[in-house]
Amino acid sequence: MCGIVCYLGSERKTAYLIDKLKRLEYRGYDSAGYSSLIKNAFYTQKVVGKLENLEKLIKNDEKSTCLISHTRWATHGECNKINAHPHLSKNNFWAVVHNGIIENYINIKKELKDEPQSTTDTAVVAEFLEERNPKSLEEFVDVFKEIKGSYALVALSKNEENTMYFAKNKSPMFIGVSGEDFMIASDPICFSGFAKEYIIVEDGEFGIIKNKKILILNSEKIQIKKQIQKLEIEFENSSKAGYPHFMLKEIMEEAGALENQVNTFLSRKILKPFSKSFIDEFDRIVFVGCGTAYHAGLMGTHYVKEILQKNADAYISSEFLCEKDTFLDKKALYIFISQSGETADTLLALEKVKKLKIPTIALTNVMYSTISRRADYVLPTCAGKEIAVASTKAYICQLSAIYMFCKNAKYEYFDEKNACYFEINNISKKINNFDREKIKNLANLISTKQECVFIGKALDYVTSLECSLKLKEVSYINSCAYPSGELKHGYLAMITKETPLFAFATNEKFNLKTISSAEEALARGAMVFVITSSKEFANSNQNVIYIDEQNSLLSPLLASSVMQYLAYNVSINKNLNPDMPRNLAKSVTVE
Ligand code: AGP
Repeated sequence: MCGIVCYLGSERKTAYLIDKLKRLEYRGYDSAGYSSLIKNAFYTQKVVGKLENLEKLIKNDEKSTCLISHTRWATHGECNKINAHPHLSKNNFWAVVHNGIIENYINIKKELKDEPQSTTDTAVVAEFLEERNPKSLEEFVDVFKEIKGSYALVALSKNEENTMYFAKNKSPMFIGVSGEDFMIASDPICFSGFAKEYIIVEDGEFGIIKNKKILILNSEKIQIKKQIQKLEIEFENSSKAGYPHFMLKEIMEEAGALENQVNTFLSRKILKPFSKSFIDEFDRIVFVGCGTAYHAGLMGTHYVKEILQKNADAYISSEFLCEKDTFLDKKALYIFISQSGETADTLLALEKVKKLKIPTIALTNVMYSTISRRADYVLPTCAGKEIAVASTKAYICQLSAIYMFCKNAKYEYFDEKNACYFEINNISKKINNFDREKIKNLANLISTKQECVFIGKALDYVTSLECSLKLKEVSYINSCAYPSGELKHGYLAMITKETPLFAFATNEKFNLKTISSAEEALARGAMVFVITSSKEFANSNQNVIYIDEQNSLLSPLLASSVMQYLAYNVSINKNLNPDMPRNLAKSVTVE
């Protein structure tokens, strides 16, 4: 999703700031641009595509003391140069960059004397600022009384040199402070190497950087005293370490990520607050998340039911938002899962629960993220930075974290005595250990297909959902996931001899039933592949992928990893870029 990096301070090379913008590439974008304010005039460049295209337009000696820059992921208005940010008002009085969605932009547009050239929601704000022309922070706050939606927005007025206005609601915004130099960004990762301190801008805050000072007001125009945070984030160079793609690198990092997960939980006794007596206070555990994170939550319901013998549910965040508050279970413990910790739907779901003063846990991979900050407790996943849009190692860590969470609450050992640490370490030894040639051959076959179906029961059904999502995301092959037993209630009608069907059978209790469902598809000509932990089937057929794990709660980690590798190879065969699937973004910061 959109990313912003803005700078006000002593003269710096424009290229240096664009370099910081590159750190936001992981969020996904399709166009980029910047404006610098030099002697009461804006100097602007915009491109469609990569930041490298933007860099080509920067002259070697180009410098700036005041610059706003942006990567755009199209929401309102197609991806083209006109719609790329910054947006300048008609007479070039104001320049604006924005991450979020201005919900009432159509109404504001109706009030404008001049229609903006761009059809985006942000262009309307630039024009609105020109017409209102605020001359102080107080007047800037007044303008925003009429603007509804989500925004991390930075604006420059051509008549106010060395001045930067900003406004924040729902989309992330941070300010790095290095002496008299300031940087506003969507992620404090941009400040590494620039500042040692930063400020977190909260919802409903408006500010100005002027005369080398920051002033922040709330919507009532009351000054807010901000706490200075120490920057403890080091920018890890996101190199592919010799791999052709981040997705492959991240799949291959799963073993290390799991070890890291275990070591962090053990050395910092992370799970100690979530003791049996803590969990006993709740009747139910509810997981909330989007996409892959939702699937981790669904898997979590099985862990909770199996290990803690407690009721559990999982919700897709956007659907959870449709629930009436009166139906929220005040006796439940809510766990919000998000790799990025910035997903708008999940954040809103968290706020909905917080409003009712129900305890919340954030299970996130980014400790300084908004969801981590807003929840009552944080349970970290230790996957390390995940760059590829398709989540791989983060999912594996989410499952392991929920598993260890349940086992600790059950057995009350927060050290090595709890067998779960050994179990996850054991999985880490097996996870990147599969027959790659076999999976690549299978990928060759799948690459030519139009569709695929994944089936399984209980936990294996959750694995089906996740593998189907992964394949769709990176290969654009249409696929669906069905509970094995449901196949004959409808989907069988779709089966032809061209249909590959993947059957997950990693739970002794249900394997035979899933295999029977697969047989029904086979009888109708489908190409059937079985992913199983049953030794009985292991060598029976070349279409069998053996998963070497008898604990049915943990076999999904191995099965998912193999299928991530399959999806990656299908993507490569189809000459696609698995790291940046079309239309998708890594961090979905709009509803
Ligand atoms: C996963 O492969 C997807 N890219 C997507 O479903 C993702 O899991 C979802 O958008 C949630 O993201 P989050 O974990 O950062 O909240």
